Amino acid sequence: MTQSRKRHVIEVSDSAALAKAAADRVLARISANHGRVAICLSGGSSPKQLYQLLATETYRSQIPWERVHWFIGDERFVPADDPLNNMGMARRIFLDRCAPAANIHPIPTDAADPQEAAHRYDSELKSFYGANELDPARPLFDVVLMGVGPDGHTASLFPDYPAVEELERWVVAVPQAHVDPFVPRVTLTLPALNSCREMLFEVAGAEKRAILTRVLDGEDLPANRARSIGETIWLVDKAALPENPRGR
Ligand code: 6PG
Repeated sequence: MTQSRKRHVIEVSDSAALAKAAADRVLARISANHGRVAICLSGGSSPKQLYQLLATETYRSQIPWERVHWFIGDERFVPADDPLNNMGMARRIFLDRCAPAANIHPIPTDAADPQEAAHRYDSELKSFYGANELDPARPLFDVVLMGVGPDGHTASLFPDYPAVEELERWVVAVPQAHVDPFVPRVTLTLPALNSCREMLFEVAGAEKRAILTRVLDGEDLPANRARSIGETIWLVDKAALPENPRGR
């Protein structure tokens, strides 16, 4: 793959337009791959509208569900049916109705502790990929969805936490979160997240404007270190976009 680490910012009018743009991009990536497809979902509230859209007949009927696999970029270490569980949210909104159970790959929060969950998911990803080393010519994921938090975190990679510097393991435990909800986390690391054809950030709402300004200014934040080895797209709605954005 070409190592173009440039980010493209695409402005849309509002959160509904953002969800549609994201759904169309996900669909385009699925259509471009005639084999097994791997999509890494994100948590938080930002992707909810996208997940709702993927469950509608228009999108649902265009997705070859049998060959699409769904992973999660980070998880709160709470039971699978807890409202805070990221994969639980995606399952309730669309996966359980649309995807074969064998194609849904949650982080196992029934593990003894976050470390064990991280270790098990690391093994699951490696076995799915078929190798223990990532080959830039063969990305792990077709699409990685991302959100950004008020402190510049993405997935559960919080500023100045050791997880951000991890270069070997694909998944690590984060015993303490830096922002609400303050539950332990399990997160994919930058080498694993960046190994994708397209990384797609969804950023909507005025409450994101302050952090988006810092991101676009190029501050050294986890969200700025997350760059696909393929394309990195930031879908941003008008309310979130600073007046004179730099660093596009
Ligand atoms: C999580 C996340 C996290 C999220 C951002 C944005 O588990 O909380 O995956 O990285 O994507 O914090 O969250 P919102 O979409 O709720 O603003």
